[in-house]
Amino acid sequence: MRLAAGQVAVVTGAASGIGLAMARRFAAEGLKVVLADVEEAALEKAFTRLRDEGAEVLARTVDVGDRTAVLSLADAVYDTFGAVHVLCNNAGVGSGAEGRMWEHDPNDWKWAFSVNVWGVFHGIQAFVPRMIASGEPGHVVNTSSADGGIAPLPTASVYAVTKAAVVTMTESLYAHLKAEHARVGASVLFPGPHMLRTGLWESHRNRPGRYAKQRPRKTPYRSLDQWEAAMKEAGHEVAFTPVEEVAEHVVEGIRADRFWMLPPSEHSDRQIRARARSMLDRADPTYLESFVLD
Ligand SMILES: NC(=O)c1ccc[n+]([C@@H]2O[C@H](COP(=O)([O-])OP(=O)(O)OC[C@H]3O[C@@H](n4cnc5c(N)ncnc54)[C@H](O)[C@@H]3O)[C@@H](O)[C@H]2O)c1
Repeated sequence: MRLAAGQVAVVTGAASGIGLAMARRFAAEGLKVVLADVEEAALEKAFTRLRDEGAEVLARTVDVGDRTAVLSLADAVYDTFGAVHVLCNNAGVGSGAEGRMWEHDPNDWKWAFSVNVWGVFHGIQAFVPRMIASGEPGHVVNTSSADGGIAPLPTASVYAVTKAAVVTMTESLYAHLKAEHARVGASVLFPGPHMLRTGLWESHRNRPGRYAKQRPRKTPYRSLDQWEAAMKEAGHEVAFTPVEEVAEHVVEGIRADRFWMLPPSEHSDRQIRARARSMLDRADPTYLESFVLD
């Protein structure tokens, strides 16, 4: 679709990282932006930053795992701006699960699903009917990850399962929008091609009491800096993709109405081929990589 000044973009998880970069990029195109996030102080900071940069902004504290809260976010957006053209269901968390799947704390699964899967579904239900009914062009971007969206990292399996769900949800959404001849497009975003220096490794900062761990972690959470140092010490190269590059990829993808927002990467292509090959050959999944992200 064509992006034009005066349109409205809603971004969840907009107080930090990729969400904030997308909101700033939409604002640079002259769109009004809605920042939705659960982390109040960071949201306030993001709001002030965008407003000072000249954007028309609405900020709302919202837990995307709470259906009522997302529905009332949509009401507030339509009351304030009267329309939505771009919806980025981007809020996401790492689960903090440790060890083997049979040892996982069920609350790790419940929390990650609440944000990463239910959050996307709530966004679709709260906004898409009104986006379609408006008859105006629109676009939904759901944030997945190469971890799960392409193939799971066995050391981050809860996260991977949620991100695989986002791909399938978005493929289904795409088919439903096409069947309705809607002017609303859909894309699945794989941020990258490298890792991103964002708050994802500190996701536990936003973990709500209702999904608290039922038993304490055996090992302390590892920060991104600690992980990077360990990887370098083990002789691995670590590359990062700037969040602004992801935001640029999203804007280009919306303009091109591209379903797969998957940046060029030989590594991703190899994984996709290896996984597809394994299924076609009915062969064991030997392509699963180990990676230290817990
Ligand atoms: N960082 C990476 O390397 C990477 C790679 C692939 C995919 N992703 C995905 O990108 C998206 C953005 O993550 P990021 O890397 O920018 O991390 P981030 O932690 O910087 O940003 C995530 C934002 O989501 C918010 N959030 C968390 N729980 C929420 C909830 N219940 N309701 C509303 N907001 C909530 C956080 O407060 C934060 O502002 C996530 O979906 C993540 O899974 C990240």
